[in-house]
Amino acid sequence: MIDLKNVSKTFSGQNGPFKAVDDINLHIEENELFGVIGESGAGKSTLLRFINALETPDSGEVVVDGINVHKLDKQALRLHQKQIGMIFQQFNLLNNKTVEENIRMPLELYPYKESIELDRVLDFVGLSDKRTSYPSELSGGQKQRVGIARALITRPKILLCDEPTSALDLGTTTEIVDVLKKAHENFGMTIVIVTHELDVIKALCTRAAVMEKGKLVDVIDVARADVHEEFRTYHERALEVLRDA
Ligand SMILES: Nc1ncnc2c1ncn2[C@@H]1O[C@H](COP(=O)(O)OP(=O)(O)OP(=O)(O)O)[C@@H](O)[C@H]1O
Ligand SMILES: [Mg+2]
Repeated sequence: MIDLKNVSKTFSGQNGPFKAVDDINLHIEENELFGVIGESGAGKSTLLRFINALETPDSGEVVVDGINVHKLDKQALRLHQKQIGMIFQQFNLLNNKTVEENIRMPLELYPYKESIELDRVLDFVGLSDKRTSYPSELSGGQKQRVGIARALITRPKILLCDEPTSALDLGTTTEIVDVLKKAHENFGMTIVIVTHELDVIKALCTRAAVMEKGKLVDVIDVARADVHEEFRTYHERALEVLRDA
């Protein structure tokens, strides 16, 4: 479904050119829950952004559903991008718009034939009672659920997640992982999630690509763990880290 073929990208950095993505080949199956992990600066976000053409590789091909994404004309590119939802670490909500208005944003930009009704999306992410609230009145977890609802309302075929839980505490991370899992089960979509949190990958993904300095060093078959076994309470974790040998 998603094929990256020998993709590379060099940025001009302060100390000369910097290869952010270095000759990567990767295949992601339709409906897969796929993780991309690696340290800061490894090139994860750049790789993710190739898929919806927010970033263009210098060389190589990005093929989604048999279509070479970087050879599309403007109109075809828009159609491609329309079927991809994205959620972000900092949520990227509009602060002067209500929850409801934020969620409906994509529908204001383009017509979507198969969009999901607002009430259903709100209920799905558990925010039915917040539809007229503003982002400043929400917790981090609630903000991210707005971000997820805004992506889901268009019924995307692919959901790209860039560090969706990295600004959240552990309990909230568990909630968001649950919502993403449920979205995958209910609506059926390919999910690609970038994170440095291994617990998130273990709770959600079937495979994970490991990146190091722009290179793909491994693709791991993930032994899935139940989300609630994987995420213990803050207290339990504190005991383990601070007290156990
Ligand atoms: N638009 C840009 N211009 C210049 N350099 C960039 C640009 N985008 C990314 N880079 C550089 O490319 C490298 C990879 O960036 P990328 O954001 O893909 O890494 P990442 O793995 O997502 O890191 P993080 O975990 O910190 O988000 C970094 O060194 C970054 O500074
Ligand atoms: Mg990143």
